[in-house]
Amino acid sequence: MHEFHCKPIPKCPSWDPIFGIDFFVKRIRAVRSHSWLRFTSDFFASIGVNTCEVNILGKKVIFTIEPDNLKSIHLDNFKSWGLSPNRKARVVPLIGHGVFTNDGHEWRVSRKLLRPSFEQSQFENIQFLERQTQQFFDAIPKSGEVVDLQPLFYTFSLNTAADFLLGDIHGAASTFGPQFEESFSRCLGKISGAGKFHVSRTKLEREFERDVKVVHDATDFRIEQAFEKRKTDSTPLASEKLFLNHLMDATDDLARIRSEILNNLMAGRDTTASMLSNAFSEIAKNPKIWKRLREEVCKLDGKPPTREQTLDMPYTRAVFLESMRMYPQVPENGRIALHDTILPLGGGEDGKSPVFVPKGQLVLWSSYALHRRKDIYSEDCNEFKPERWLPQKDQEPLKPGWAYLNFGAGPRLCLGQNFAMMQATYLCTRIAQTFPCLESADPEGWVECLALVCTGLNGCKVRLH
Ligand code: HEM
Repeated sequence: MHEFHCKPIPKCPSWDPIFGIDFFVKRIRAVRSHSWLRFTSDFFASIGVNTCEVNILGKKVIFTIEPDNLKSIHLDNFKSWGLSPNRKARVVPLIGHGVFTNDGHEWRVSRKLLRPSFEQSQFENIQFLERQTQQFFDAIPKSGEVVDLQPLFYTFSLNTAADFLLGDIHGAASTFGPQFEESFSRCLGKISGAGKFHVSRTKLEREFERDVKVVHDATDFRIEQAFEKRKTDSTPLASEKLFLNHLMDATDDLARIRSEILNNLMAGRDTTASMLSNAFSEIAKNPKIWKRLREEVCKLDGKPPTREQTLDMPYTRAVFLESMRMYPQVPENGRIALHDTILPLGGGEDGKSPVFVPKGQLVLWSSYALHRRKDIYSEDCNEFKPERWLPQKDQEPLKPGWAYLNFGAGPRLCLGQNFAMMQATYLCTRIAQTFPCLESADPEGWVECLALVCTGLNGCKVRLH
């Protein structure tokens, strides 16, 4: 490592540099008061460097918001980094080993298997989005009463992801009905540490096991149905471009197929729902944005958008990009060094030299704090301004490169990115075509709720006329 001229990394100022109790206590307090994300952003602004070492209960963690370091971890030096064991341990009992939880060779196999299902050509037929949109509308009170859209976005994103992954031949929504949704939600709540603290551990474990069984049985049932249909049907499922079909072509291992489906369902449900919920919370507070969104969808004459049309909505896209900048769904993430390696920036007092990273070292990054760096996003970075993503009179649109990390990046870039943007654009278009008036019914600002992904604590309370 000598040749890289590494310099020591600045240490986070602390009155307890050995046991790191102070940072731990600050973290617990901030998480409990739903202000951890603002704390991280203020923390980096106050220490004046973008990479530092933090001691949390005696464990040294490198914390960074340096785009060059993120490029190195995600792309240039990808093979030197692995998922944190914590991520796997938390979710494997529910979703098994699949693309989201695998590393190394197994991850490459999973990724290769799933890639074709996410190619653009898979989204030619998007009628299932209209059906789920109509179900979404059915749940909205017609008389303009206050409605919390957040739970409706969760159901919408679960059902559309289920339709996409499994097809709706037998009605994926009936496979993944309310009981599945309840069990799945409870499991994710337990995994993320949210949930009932007043209930005993044993009771929680038993409830978790019961819920996992509901989720596994429902998914297995759907897969077995598809195998059965494949054996007997004259128009086999294999002819359809389905995620499940690709998996059935590759293997008949039921547990393997189930794991890949659940890996995607977990990665895709809360994220998309949170993106919609956060965006609509902001839009509802700003009638000008709603007006502009409605103007953009005018060209469709009230008809549902096609796949191509969802790609040609620059203002809608800018609204979602801005919402994910300010409220990233995965506001914090990390990797473990698989062997001795370096980060290109962060060493020395000015943070401009490489840093030596020993094998086993945990490196965390905060997309939230990164997305609010004033030197990158300018002084108004705490304001919701979709226009920053569009070309302006004398200005190029914002192109933050490695300073925008909402969908991850590099070889592990989110597989569902295009699908998520399409779902969100479609639903937003249909809401804008149907309801001229959208008003916020939430007097407070956005408050973080850190679960498996981050969403708004107060939901998305609005009136739609
Ligand atoms: C707004 C919506 C979404 C956001 C913000 C999001 C965000 C992310 C992020 C940050 C990662 C990288 C995690 C890491 O590197 O540790 C990721 C990976 C992944 N996402 Fe998404 N995601 C979204 C929607 C979806 C959807 C709808 C699906 C599938 C239906 C999906 C499937 C996946 C999968 C399978 C991975 C793992 C890829 C790999 O490790 O190779 N995501 N997502």
